[in-house]
Amino acid sequence: MNEENLLKKINESQFDHHTLYDINQLSKDDIFEIINLARDFKKFIEEGNNKKTSILRGTSIINFFLETSTRTRTSFELAGKHLGSDTINVTASSSTGKSKGETLVDMARTLNSMKADLIILRNASAGTPKLISEHIDAKVISAGDGWHQHPTQALTDLLTIKNEFGDDPRGLKVTIVGDIKHSRVAGSLMRLLPRTGMKVTLTGPSTMMPEKVEQVFDVKINTKAEEAFTDADVLYNIRVQKERGAEGDIPTIREYAHQYCINTARAALAKKSAIVMDAGPVNREIGIRTEVIESPMSRIEHQVQNGFYTRLALLSLMLGKRN
Ligand code: CP
Repeated sequence: MNEENLLKKINESQFDHHTLYDINQLSKDDIFEIINLARDFKKFIEEGNNKKTSILRGTSIINFFLETSTRTRTSFELAGKHLGSDTINVTASSSTGKSKGETLVDMARTLNSMKADLIILRNASAGTPKLISEHIDAKVISAGDGWHQHPTQALTDLLTIKNEFGDDPRGLKVTIVGDIKHSRVAGSLMRLLPRTGMKVTLTGPSTMMPEKVEQVFDVKINTKAEEAFTDADVLYNIRVQKERGAEGDIPTIREYAHQYCINTARAALAKKSAIVMDAGPVNREIGIRTEVIESPMSRIEHQVQNGFYTRLALLSLMLGKRN
């Protein structure tokens, strides 16, 4: 794989999106193109090519992160830099929203005035990536909005599952455990995974389940962790989102962990070939015991690596076409 091959694929792709804030904006073909290109970038890097390319030369990307992030921001920033784009970060502490009273839309319009080609927004309020996209002409990607969605995390996770079980995931049993209600990762996974034919079960305290979730999405609830884990192919942990007041939904963290933490005994209920996933940040001993995180079942670091390849692919498809 070389830069020329990558450019050819990018130029030949049918991908044509100005925004990505909802995983359902992507068709089956769009998802196929992102995943294939992510795999090509993985090959390109693993073959020892100089990571710095000129695929996005002449473009500028602003990582507008008004909530904290370790994985998403760094992977978008590194991906942009490796692709040759001028990439800068604007964070809550370095911007004028809270401290000086500027609205989100006004800040986005200000960044847009500097001719940014793409703004990647993480924000605590659901719907804000779509909102800013309606006021600016730069392209917009959501890096997570409140309790709503985290579409690039779901793409990353689909790549991780496909790499493990093959490209036809129909019938795979995925159990998502934890604080589903407050989780934007769960928000995107519940939309995406059933579309691919996976069977999704949610488990966790009933107080952490979104209202009417079984009516809105093609998922099932079973609040008994042991039953939900039995024969699963994937155990996916969603952490208790303390920053969104989730502790008010459970008696104590200790009680939660007693019932739902993925420990060795619970993990053993899943299939022998099962994997354990967590988008991170991982809360050790609350959602997953260290013994499982460090076991051969864990794919947490693969998720981080795949996040980088997925974002290289998405940025290239959104900004890299030359025809
Ligand atoms: N998975 C995820 O969104 O992690 P960060 O908050 O570190 O970006």
